[in-house]
Amino acid sequence: MSIATRGLQFREPLIFEVSSPGRTGHSLPASCVEASGDVALPAGLLRQDAPAWPEVSELEAVRHFVRLSQQNYGIDVGFFPLGSCTMKYNPKVNEDVARLPGFADLHPLAPTSWTQGALELYATLERYLAEITGFSAVSLQPAAGAHGEFTGLRLIREHLITTQGTPRAKVLVPDTAHGTNPATCKMNGYATVPIASADNGLVRPEDVAAVMSDDVAAIMITNPNTLGLFESQIKEIADIVHAGGGMVYCDGANMNALLGRGRPGDMGVDVMHLNLHKTFSTPHGGGGPGSGPVCVNDALEPYLPVPRVVRGADGAWTVDFDRPATIGRVKAFFGNFGMHVRAYTYIRELGREGLLDVSGMAVLNANYLRVKLGKTYNVVQDRVCMHEVVLNDKHQRRDAGVDTRDIAKAIIDQGFHPPTTFFPICVHNAIMIEPTETESKDTLDAFIEAMETIDRDARANPDGLRQAPLKPIVGRLDETRAVRQPVLRWSPKAG
Ligand SMILES: Cc1ncc(COP(=O)(O)O)c(C=O)c1O
Repeated sequence: MSIATRGLQFREPLIFEVSSPGRTGHSLPASCVEASGDVALPAGLLRQDAPAWPEVSELEAVRHFVRLSQQNYGIDVGFFPLGSCTMKYNPKVNEDVARLPGFADLHPLAPTSWTQGALELYATLERYLAEITGFSAVSLQPAAGAHGEFTGLRLIREHLITTQGTPRAKVLVPDTAHGTNPATCKMNGYATVPIASADNGLVRPEDVAAVMSDDVAAIMITNPNTLGLFESQIKEIADIVHAGGGMVYCDGANMNALLGRGRPGDMGVDVMHLNLHKTFSTPHGGGGPGSGPVCVNDALEPYLPVPRVVRGADGAWTVDFDRPATIGRVKAFFGNFGMHVRAYTYIRELGREGLLDVSGMAVLNANYLRVKLGKTYNVVQDRVCMHEVVLNDKHQRRDAGVDTRDIAKAIIDQGFHPPTTFFPICVHNAIMIEPTETESKDTLDAFIEAMETIDRDARANPDGLRQAPLKPIVGRLDETRAVRQPVLRWSPKAG
């Protein structure tokens, strides 16, 4: 049975609905601490009624949460081809190392004389990432890709204020960009100037030159871009922006396609972010905690967030706050240190040859899917791609009247997580597939077969396909209602 259908075998109701007065899952001893008037909370802060928690036994609570975990889909249970999100397997050795008490139990305020090992790991990971990306310095503080973007553009802003007396007003953003790029511009006080990519899916230097001006602070360019294509004219584009007094930001979310083969720092880029949770196999979690290190060249290094982990004159690791040009902190303490331990472990485990294999397999797998799926689906840019391939519903819409949404829902019934859909927005009804390097040929073949089945089903019974998904515990949602009237938390029934 596929994981998507597993929900059907459960017969137990949700614990919130089975509360039985007096039933309990715990027995705590009476408190031996007397309530003290000194620490009593102000009356206004005390609740008048007991919370309306469900009253259930331990067994009911355990079944509820284990069942929920089994109804969930994750990379540890199946193929998760979510383009641009890089849902690749996170090796368990990373978890083992992150759980070592010397790392897991560290207090961020512990004196540096107690934390030499952790500080060394931190500084060494920065050095590894600088070497891999071709930059002079790295800050591990940002907590996600978008946070790295915010930090990176902030560094550019500070640099322009210092060197030109103005942050300038605009940032150039290609139409293949992730939504976080324009959001980052806005958060940093910049207007975005969109650049349409050419018919071949790439940014053309002449289009950049046409909009470059004294007002432009930077270009934010994603490489490889979200069509899964390498921006081959990145150097010419960087030269144009630099000649106009601006800087080049690279969204490095797709660095798993370049590992060991190309370094953005050698391509004219001034600053980029990495998503450790994509390229370096740390967990995505439910939106976090993640890590989005920012990598910079010499010009931007003085502005990096504090503290910096450095070696003192005595050779011991220490933290340096004395950096007059810094933009300050962007995150408490050192960022999400557990993620740094995992990424460090991954790099050490793989070594140089292993990292080369990562990019090689990521690209090979994406191209395998491109060629095989191209027999039934429209491939938007049908030439050698990098880490991901973008299809759309052109053939199925024309021949059977089913669209990207129907196809994505039908994939759930086939037992797989759907790919990213309707992104990048420059592609009509995009289906964006990123297999990642961790999947075997057998898994890719099973996915191809599922996609071919969907194409056949669409032609034989389009109305049936429009009902999908039928197998999971939750069917097709009313997406309009979900947006307009979202129910985001459980509330007890009145009475
Ligand atoms: C190309 C690209 N840029 C930026 C981001 C933002 O990264 P994060 O989700 O870590 O904030 C993503 C996320 O998927 C992405 O795909």
